[in-house]
Amino acid sequence: MTPRSWLFVPADSAPKIAKALGAGADALILDLEDSVALGAKPAARVLAGQTLAAPRTGPALWVRINPLGSGLALSDLATIMPHAPDGIVLPKPDSVADVQKLGAYLEALEAAFGLEPGRTRILAIATETPASVFSLGGYAAAGPRLIGLTWGAEDLPAAIGATHARQPDGALTDLCRLVRSLCLAGAAAANVAAIDTVYPDFRDLDGLRAWAAQAKREGFVSMMAIHPAQVPVINEIMTPSTAEIAEARAIEALFAAAPGAGVVAHQGRMLDLPHLKQAQRLLARVRPA
Ligand code: COA
Ligand code: MG
Repeated sequence: MTPRSWLFVPADSAPKIAKALGAGADALILDLEDSVALGAKPAARVLAGQTLAAPRTGPALWVRINPLGSGLALSDLATIMPHAPDGIVLPKPDSVADVQKLGAYLEALEAAFGLEPGRTRILAIATETPASVFSLGGYAAAGPRLIGLTWGAEDLPAAIGATHARQPDGALTDLCRLVRSLCLAGAAAANVAAIDTVYPDFRDLDGLRAWAAQAKREGFVSMMAIHPAQVPVINEIMTPSTAEIAEARAIEALFAAAPGAGVVAHQGRMLDLPHLKQAQRLLARVRPA
C-alpha cells in the first residue's frame, strides 16, 4: 500500500537517520540530492547503503538519487542498489522518458545484484523542470515500477527565474498551483498515487494539519515531510477515519442492495457511480488492523 507519510532525511547525517527510523513514518527518503552538499555525497551514499544493509524493522526505505543528467546518479545507484532499497525517488525528470531510463538502469542493477526483477519502485518528483510542466500527462507509459507522482515548490520557480515560490501571504504562486493540480491529474491518468509535497514551515503543525486535510479532499493520498514532528499529523490525516470508513461501507451496501440501480438516495443526497467509486477507493486504502 502507498505510504501515508514519507520523511526526508539528509543521508549524510547518521544522527538524523537514527532519529528518522523511529519517527513513525511509513517510508523514509534517504536524500542524496539537494540536502547534501557536493563534497558530502560520497559519504552520504555509503551511509545510505549501510542504513539499507542493517536489519529492516521499521519504515520502507527509499533513496532520492541525484538527477539523471547530473553525472552523479549512476554512482548513487551503484552504491545503494546492492542493498536493495524499496524504491528510488527521482528528482527533476523532464518527462516519462527519464522514468523509463531509470527503470532500465534498475533492471540492469537488479540483475547484477541478484535482486528480484522489478522489485525497486519509483516515485517521480515530476514538476521540477520547465520542460516537465508540458509532459505531466504522459506518465501512464512509465510501466509498473512507478507508484506515484509528487511535485516540488522550490526547484521550478528557481529554474524559471522567479524570486519566490510563494506570495507574501504564504500562498503558492500561480505556476506552483498549476503544477500541483497537473500532478494530481497526471497521477490519476497514470493510475498511480498523487503525493503532496512538503510543508516547509515545520514548526507550524496547525498549518500542516489544515494543508494535509485540504490535500486529502483534493485527492492526494499521502504527503512528504521534512521533520519528525510532521509525521504523526500526516499519518493521522491520511488514514481514513472511522466515520469515513463507515460512510463508504454504507454507500457500498446501498448499491449492493439495489442491483442494477444507477442512482440511490442516501440521507437526502443523490449518489451515483462516482460516489460508489470514491467509496471503493477509500475502502481499498483501509489498512488491516
Ligand atoms: N530526520 C531526522 N531527524 C530530524 C529531521 C529529519 N528530517 N529533522 C530534524 N531532525 C532532528 C534534529 O536533528 C533534532 O535532533 P536532536 O534533538 O537529536 O538534536 C530534532 O529532530 C529536532 O530538530 P529541530 O531542532 O526541530 O530542527 P533542526 O533545526 O535540527 O533541523 C532541518 C531543521 C530543516 C535542518 C531538518 O528538519 C532537516 O534536515 N530536514 C530534512 C531536510 C531535507 O531532507 N530536505 C530535502 C527535501 S525538501
Ligand atoms: Mg530540490
